[in-house]
This record gives sequence, structure tokens and C-alpha cells, in this order.
Amino acid sequence: MRTAILELLKQNSGQYISGEEISQALHVSRTAVWKHIQALKLAGYEIEAHTRLGYALRQSTDRLLPEEIKVHLTSVVLGQEIHYFSEIGSTNNEAKKLATNGCPEGTIVVAEAQITGRGRLARGWFSPPGKGIWLSVVLRPPFSPMDAAKCTLMAAVGVNRAINSVTGTGCGIKWPNDILWQGRKVVGILTEMSAEMDAINYVVIGMGINVNIDQQDFPSEIAATATSLAVAAGRRISRVKLLTAILAELESTYNTVKASGFAPVLADWRQQSITLGQQVDVRGVERHFTGLAVDIDADGALLIKTPNGIERVLAGDVSI
Ligand code: BTN
Repeated sequence: MRTAILELLKQNSGQYISGEEISQALHVSRTAVWKHIQALKLAGYEIEAHTRLGYALRQSTDRLLPEEIKVHLTSVVLGQEIHYFSEIGSTNNEAKKLATNGCPEGTIVVAEAQITGRGRLARGWFSPPGKGIWLSVVLRPPFSPMDAAKCTLMAAVGVNRAINSVTGTGCGIKWPNDILWQGRKVVGILTEMSAEMDAINYVVIGMGINVNIDQQDFPSEIAATATSLAVAAGRRISRVKLLTAILAELESTYNTVKASGFAPVLADWRQQSITLGQQVDVRGVERHFTGLAVDIDADGALLIKTPNGIERVLAGDVSI
């Protein structure tokens, strides 16, 4: 109902619409209309109320509210169920809980801020309020658990495509799934899964997207290596439009994998990669070496040419 009222207010583009008109159009009482308007105001919408004229929307909110997301949503599975938090520990933790309790595929968890945002390799993730997209998507892929690692490459391809079409910034993918602009990280992806021996229960794809963070606001530890899409584009980016574009591209990439396997996505990954053809430094759990990144194989492992032959890297930190 809140979404429908908001739609009516938006259609009226800043003009007043009376409580009576809304109540007739949506078949609800005027008291219910009033209550929903109060809730929308609390959520951050600037709505002017006039005793005789009714209500007029003055300012939409920049929050990632389900009502706002639904207006732009084009994906048909991803984002049909939305769990929104103004603040949360970690959207991935919440998504894993929901997935364990049987939420439908495509459920998303989105937050304005994360208090204990988690990154790869047990690191933290800087997630300040209102400036990024801190998002987790629940998938239930019909693949073998052996293929789960490739979900992360699939996510990077979908997210990078959406980012470049919305912002025009020319970002690229650093193996396996960081998205960089001019050598600085703008997106990190943390994929987590629960599986049996032969089947995946769920995969949670967690995405941290630095959207409208000013360069000086990054903590000193990451200030030299991180940046945001707003810095890259030289303008503020609509978080809602970017989020819905990401869901659409991720859904399309996922559908491609389900229909044709991972080969087309790995081909797209190669095209969007900024790692291939570069001299890289690899820090794994037990080894540290350098070499030329030449390709990824069918499992998504990075192939590195070294004086001792081709090394295959499935996990670890690779710097260019
Ligand atoms: C990385 O280290 O590069 C991965 C960062 C992933 C961060 C995102 S933000 C949304 C989701 N919730 C988390 O706690 N982490 C992921």
C-alpha cells in the first residue's frame, strides 16, 4: 500500500492530491492513507500536507527503501523479496539466516550502513551510512558445489557490466572479483555458501559498492587503494538505479550460466579483466611468487606463467 500511495504522489509530480482521491483510487480509508503518509515521512520522504488540498511529494528519498527499489526493478527473480535495514551488522549474515530459514531465491538484504561489514580473507569492510550499496543476494543454484567458486566470477561480470553502463567509468575486474577504477578498488564481493556433498543449499553473494563516498572519507588504511564511483564519474550516482541495474545484470548472467554453463561468462570475465596480461604478485596461504597472468581455466583458476612453468591459483591475494 505504501508503494501504491508513493506511486500516486509521484504521478502527480509535486502537485497536491487529496486524501479522498487517494483513498478512492486505492480502496482504503482516509485514516489508513494518513497513517501510510506518516510512515513515508518517517522513511525520509518530504511530503507536504495541506488540510484542504491534500498531499504533495516534495522530495524523494535517496534511501534504498523497498518502495524506491521496486519502482526501478526490472529483474523478475532477484529483488522480489527485499529486507531493508537502516543499520545492520552484516547483510551477508542476515542473508545466510534468511536462506537457512528457507527464503525464496532472489531474496535481497540491503542496508544503509553495516557495523561489522565483512570482507574476504577475514578482513572488515568499510560501510558508512547512505554512501554505498551494501547488498547480499540469495541464490539457490542447481550446480554442483564444485562450481560454486565460479559464482563469484559470475557476480563480478554482472556487477561490472551494470556499473559501466550506469556510470560510464570503464571499471575492470581484478581476479577473482574485485572491481577497480584506475587501480583503486570500488567493489568487493564476498560469496558464501552452504552445501551438501552433491548439492548447494544456497549461495549468498555479498557486494560492497563504494558509490558516493568522498575520497577524504576513506579510513587511512585503505585511502590509497580504494575509491568510489562518484569520484570516478565526477558526479553523484543514484544508488537505487545502480542497485536495480546490478540485479538485472546479475540475473541475466545467472540465466546465461543456467542455460549454457559457465563458458560464456568466463569469456566475458576475460574481456572485462584487468589482471590478464599483467605481471602479478601472488600471496597464498603457503606460497608467494610472481609471474605473468595469462588466463583463467574452466574452473576460474588464474593461470600464471613463471620460470618454473604454469602455476594455477584458486584462492589467495593477487596484486597487480
Ligand atoms: C572483499 O573483501 O573484497 C569483499 C567485500 C564484501 C563486502 C560486502 S558488503 C555487503 C556484504 N556484507 C558483508 O558483510 N560483506 C559483503
